[in-house]
Amino acid sequence: MYGIDRSRYRCDRCGGLLEVTHEFGDQLYDFRKRGVWKYRYLIHPALPESLTVSRNEGATTMYRSDRVSQYAGISLHLKHDGENPTGSFKDRGMTVAVSEALRLGMKRTVCASTGNTAASAASYSAVAGMECTVYVPAGKVSQSKMAQTLAYGARVVEVDGTFDNALEESLDLVEDGSYTLNSINPWRVEGQKTVLYEILECMSDVDIISVPAGNLGNTSAIGKAIMELDTLGLLKKVPRLVAVQAEGAAPFYRMWVEHSESISRVEPVTVASAIRIGNPVSWKKARRAIEYTSGTVVSVSDEEILEAKRCIDRAGIGCEPASAASVAGIRKMVQEGEISRDERVVAILTGNLLKDPMSPVGNKV
Ligand code: F0G
Repeated sequence: MYGIDRSRYRCDRCGGLLEVTHEFGDQLYDFRKRGVWKYRYLIHPALPESLTVSRNEGATTMYRSDRVSQYAGISLHLKHDGENPTGSFKDRGMTVAVSEALRLGMKRTVCASTGNTAASAASYSAVAGMECTVYVPAGKVSQSKMAQTLAYGARVVEVDGTFDNALEESLDLVEDGSYTLNSINPWRVEGQKTVLYEILECMSDVDIISVPAGNLGNTSAIGKAIMELDTLGLLKKVPRLVAVQAEGAAPFYRMWVEHSESISRVEPVTVASAIRIGNPVSWKKARRAIEYTSGTVVSVSDEEILEAKRCIDRAGIGCEPASAASVAGIRKMVQEGEISRDERVVAILTGNLLKDPMSPVGNKV
């Protein structure tokens, strides 16, 4: 035990006491920092501070909206990771991965993307003075994300086919010495763990965390963070992790409900372009995370995604379509009696409203 001044353990945003970690104090926190790097000891303790490539990512807002709660059928908190510097949760992992690239002396970075990883990789690579190449599925990425990526100076390679084909092609450049910034890079995963720490700071007894699932890097990262904190004895309870896929791009959901030992690739079709992925790379880690937390995998239709998005938008909060899947998934579980009314639930919104503004909008709900 250390001499604990509890007032130091208040959440940046909501002021809630950090009950989970207060006994460990300075071993976990770098109190000079805010956001992702506040947790440097849990994600990359060996990185010299001078090599940190950061745009002050993390420390995003946790909202609670009556309108969205009424829609979901349960009191629902929304952790808005679309408030990160490039407008998506990807920045949490990108700051760590690009810092590591700098430490390794890399000059070039590469990734495949449905748009958000591309924009984030382009930004952080530019900050670090590295050349960035991104592979995207031709004609399948929102114009805003393309514009953002090009503005940050990345080279864009359009690939015929899906994200899955783009990822395969991008690996050729990795063999040629470029540093991959996809979530197969373990440092991306380390950074993305921090969303869990922030959620726990506001709600140490959270029961359920729901997340939109595509390539499954984020599901794996949050799962890793839960398993590590649990192993350290720092969790009050293990939150159930819910991964939500779009019906037309749901190979992980199918594997889960069919209890299959492996995943079968699908041809992905969904309005939620960010999660239009048919062959998710991180499915094994994500399955371990779901199993460990006694969580589940849900699939929702495009109509359900867009309806949830309209509600989140009209609540004044807003998000891109893929993000709304996390709320649509919770609503579905509540309707099916899989969540009881007294459970504490957080849905993660992964991307900003302006990321994909051309999807259908309307005034219903
Ligand atoms: N939500 C948004 C807004 C995304 O951009 C992504 C993934 C996800 C959810 C799913 O996360 O892949 O870790 O399961 N976007 C990647 C990209 C694929 O290239 O931007 P995941």
